[in-house]
Amino acid sequence: MSVKTIGVLTSGGDAPGMNAAIRGVVRAAIKSDMKVLGVRDGYAGLIKGELVEMDMRSVSNIIQRGGTCLKTARCLEFKEWAGVLKAKAVCEQFGLDGLVVIGGDGSFRGAADLSRAGIPCVGIPGTIDNDIACTEYTIGYDTAMNTTMQMVDKLRDTVQSHDRCSVVEVMGRRAGYIALNAGIACGATFICVPEIGLDMDALLAKIKAAKKLGKSYYIIMVAEGIGHVEDIAKRIEEETGIESRGTVLGHVQRGGSPTVTDRVVASRMAYHAVDLLKKGIGNRVVAQQKGDIVDFDIQEALSMKKQFPMDLYNVANDISF
Ligand code: ADP
Ligand code: F6P
Repeated sequence: MSVKTIGVLTSGGDAPGMNAAIRGVVRAAIKSDMKVLGVRDGYAGLIKGELVEMDMRSVSNIIQRGGTCLKTARCLEFKEWAGVLKAKAVCEQFGLDGLVVIGGDGSFRGAADLSRAGIPCVGIPGTIDNDIACTEYTIGYDTAMNTTMQMVDKLRDTVQSHDRCSVVEVMGRRAGYIALNAGIACGATFICVPEIGLDMDALLAKIKAAKKLGKSYYIIMVAEGIGHVEDIAKRIEEETGIESRGTVLGHVQRGGSPTVTDRVVASRMAYHAVDLLKKGIGNRVVAQQKGDIVDFDIQEALSMKKQFPMDLYNVANDISF
């Protein structure tokens, strides 16, 4: 089958570098003599038929921008088979021979469903959480870690002036990668990640041990969802006498101009995704493995488990007194 027209959408939580991926898809497809339609608002826009043709210039001046120019959405209707069939009908109406889906694992489940319905889909991992097992890297992760580091460096200034303990909540739904790496980069005294859970005794023991060694201010990095930073701060203050504050960094971590890594990985993954669709291959997820861009069957990718780097966690713990 000759592939003439493909679509591209962004879905789920946005991530810096999604624009670079959209640009890569549009440019690579046009270079291969295909037509590209941009879908607004993820699967919600697909169901509603919100598709517009994109040209070389419609992706100008976006490589450096955070967010996604196509917008993103969460769409409950698409989780039902009836919603998938509606989307399929829209794809047929617009003559889509394939679709690139930039998002996280939820978006890939949708892409697998749409592929099964007969529209070849290729997923590109875009999420700041780096929580997709088949790939060592997801678009947005590096920018988010750098943003987190910059924010915590600012906190460190004031924490140090007041001899306080700062308990910082960072993003990472069910995944501690941002907390771990930004924690190391910021010299956090203790890092709490969902893969290990909140060990309050170990946390207090670490602060007390560091205090004995003359430490006067502390940064505790906590991945979201494993405890309220205000509660943790209160407990630290009660048990150690160190004045403590909780800070939630929140969505600021999802914004900002993408780093070199995010722009380059996004561009390479986009190119690979278009190459697959050009050959009529769908139901695949693009991934990075040992620096190479590869692809996996979506179901196989979704069944993989990501191993938390305990060795790195131990390094962090051993050098943070
Ligand atoms: P992410 O892609 O970042 O993991 P979500 O989990 O919110 O984000 O998923 C984004 C969208 O993908 C959902 O709003 C829904 O439209 C679609 N989706 C998620 N899970 C499924 C599923 N199990 N089956 C079909 N579509 C899904
Ligand atoms: O993109 C992933 C993520 O940033 C998670 O770390 C976080 O839990 C979630 O998105 C929050 O997304 P939202 O506020 O858009 O629902």
